Amino acid sequence: MNPLPLTPLPSRGISPGKAILFGEHAVVYGEPAVVLSLDIYTTVEVHEATGGTDHRFQGDSGAWRRNPYLQEILGKGSSPPAGHLDVRVRSQIPPASGLGSSAALVAPLTAILRAREGPVDRGTLARESFLAERAAQGVGSPVDTTAVTAGGIVAVGPPGREGEDLWTIPAVEGKGPWTVRRVPDPGWTWVVGYTGVPKQTGRTVNRVRQRLQETDGPELLAAFGSLARAGEDALRRGDRDAVGQCMERNHALLVRLGVGHPRLDQLVGAVRPHVAGVKITGAGSGGSILALPRPGSELAAARAIARAGGLAFRVRPPPQGVRVEPLPR
Ligand code: PMV
Repeated sequence: MNPLPLTPLPSRGISPGKAILFGEHAVVYGEPAVVLSLDIYTTVEVHEATGGTDHRFQGDSGAWRRNPYLQEILGKGSSPPAGHLDVRVRSQIPPASGLGSSAALVAPLTAILRAREGPVDRGTLARESFLAERAAQGVGSPVDTTAVTAGGIVAVGPPGREGEDLWTIPAVEGKGPWTVRRVPDPGWTWVVGYTGVPKQTGRTVNRVRQRLQETDGPELLAAFGSLARAGEDALRRGDRDAVGQCMERNHALLVRLGVGHPRLDQLVGAVRPHVAGVKITGAGSGGSILALPRPGSELAAARAIARAGGLAFRVRPPPQGVRVEPLPR
């Protein structure tokens, strides 16, 4: 994939959002997942700070220490920046919505800092962004940071499946490695709906770990895995109905896992008449749904979500992931 070019400061990094189509939670345990990047964006601008004795975040010196991601990247990461930086972030992605807001901050900021030194290989960027996000969150798989770095649609999972390999993320603390493959985009418009209930990934992942210790845990994980593989194959064939059916089955598995929420149920119920399939996306217990509308029903699906009190976005995977561009000095 195209590397990011050498870009001295001041510069701007732009990242898409993401939605997990198949395999959330199970991907943490080595099962495959399929992830869409989304054309809703976070923009990060970095200038060298003139004067002052600390980095500035949103114009406030010291505020970066209260943001776990900035703390990780500016304070502890593998190459903390020399000199003080002025970091400004604007985002269309609601925080804690399951739509990739943290990956869309971590990946472009990491890219900006790296691109000051030379061209940045996307596999390296995905690996470093994953490690920073995981260190800040304490848990997690590389799916979010990989999807926003790659753009388009990707499959992330154990090595060995056919397809165009983009890169591999090495194992961390006994989890992984994860091979990342490109999945061709069939060109559909999707609809996501945020419940307005912030999800808490760390807490939900820990609850799921306990749930998976019950007797049906291994069977549940295997079902997630075979569904992600069947869903990926359906996507490659451009078979909308089959993708929709796999989404519905994935949703039912997430409910069995215990990550449903009454607000998710409301949005799912409201959008269902307009879709080939709909599911919880991301950690769940709040957060968002992802729907695949029937052709021509994209607006009706978005309206149904809005009428049920959700924040709806009509989205497509942008072909390009994170990019960095110079700003005028
Ligand atoms: O809701 P999100 O965007 O934090 O997605 C979490 C996805 C999980 O599979 C539950 C955890 C992970 O890091 O893969």
